[in-house]
Amino acid sequence: MTEPVSAAAAAANEAIRQASPALCDLLSPLGRRVVFPNDIPFQAAQARGKTFNATIGQITDGAGGALPLHSLVSGLEAMDPERRNRAVLYSPGVGFPSLRTAWRSRQRRGVAAEVPSTMPFVTVGLSHGLSLLADLFAGPGRAVVTPEPYWGNYRQCFEVRTGAHLVPAPSIVDGKFPPDTFARALESLPSGEPAMVILNFPSNPGGYSPTQRERQQLVASLVGVAADRPLLVLCDDAYAGLVFEEGVPRESLFWELIDQHPNLIPAKVDGATKEVSFFGGRVGFVTFPFSPDSEIAAALESKLQCLLRAALGSPVAVSQQLLEAALTSETLEAEIEELRRTLGHRCEVLKQALATTSRELLTPMPFNSGCFALLELPEELGLTSEEVRLHLLAEHDTGLVAIAPRYLRIAFCSVSAAALPELVRRVELAVRELRR
Ligand SMILES: Cc1ncc(COP(=O)(O)O)c(C=O)c1O
Repeated sequence: MTEPVSAAAAAANEAIRQASPALCDLLSPLGRRVVFPNDIPFQAAQARGKTFNATIGQITDGAGGALPLHSLVSGLEAMDPERRNRAVLYSPGVGFPSLRTAWRSRQRRGVAAEVPSTMPFVTVGLSHGLSLLADLFAGPGRAVVTPEPYWGNYRQCFEVRTGAHLVPAPSIVDGKFPPDTFARALESLPSGEPAMVILNFPSNPGGYSPTQRERQQLVASLVGVAADRPLLVLCDDAYAGLVFEEGVPRESLFWELIDQHPNLIPAKVDGATKEVSFFGGRVGFVTFPFSPDSEIAAALESKLQCLLRAALGSPVAVSQQLLEAALTSETLEAEIEELRRTLGHRCEVLKQALATTSRELLTPMPFNSGCFALLELPEELGLTSEEVRLHLLAEHDTGLVAIAPRYLRIAFCSVSAAALPELVRRVELAVRELRR
């Protein structure tokens, strides 16, 4: 039995059902209840441009301009005055339209015009985008397939916050990525039951991106799943573009998953954190595979806006303005490319350093992208990665992340190329010292 919802929420749900019955079935109880209310931001948006606009509680000069304090805005002196004004006042709840348009154009480079995608909805970093999707589509008992090992925050976003149930899909079997792993993980779920899958390429913690052939197999296996159940495929594109090997596609799988099957709905979470190296800026985006002017896009946006308003009020204006200024810079793409090359070089140096280590002590997992590499401790050693991590901290002045039971993650994005061989030497030495 479904809980009763407000008339406005019922109308939004109906708009979603009309365009995508599967996505409507995927809504969580919270996802069904939420809809953007007709309160202050809604009424203020309707009043925008009126001569007398006394709707919104922000302090202005009476004509839409900010009354900024010098001490606060002196750090923003280099911004053009209009941008500075927008940086100081409230952002629209969905994000600034010009930023959304600019991000959408960047997302869609190389994507055919007929492939639909909504205006990206602005979030406060990607974690926030993930938890918005968790609120909308996860919820008690919902199966959420995650790669194993996975970025630990998925547990907080999906399981701890919403009561969903994580289903692990091994991302390395016999030293290789198995493309049908996500489909296999769902085999034991009752037929017809809606489910979610999280795809994260380049991956954290693995630093792996599938080849073209692996992508084709992966997509085909998910289409097979969708024949039997509504499936939301969340593409966590945090590390989009950071691919270092020729022949490994850089594009998000989101685009390939669109219109594959009516039961298969991809959603894209991306943002400036890693793609534009703006970690503290906290600008992320949520995008669905529907035309921006469709009713389903409006209904989904209304639901997201309700959730964002309840938790944060509105997204951060100043970092949106900084990002938008960057996106209009003619040199931005060349700067991103240079950063990609720097990381690609570190990735290569790390590979070479690992190539000379003893396989009796460390097994590097395949990595070709992103920011990380994973090492596995051979089972025969009888060591946990936590033991090695603590020993590295205590005796070798070295910090890595331990992922239970036997993985160690190296974030090569935060170590210089020159330091990587020595880091690897210390890890190998630590394992040798602890070996039983
Ligand atoms: C796979 C993955 N997704 C999402 C995020 C979250 O990004 P943000 O810092 O923008 O919340 C991270 C951050 O490390 C990540 O590794």
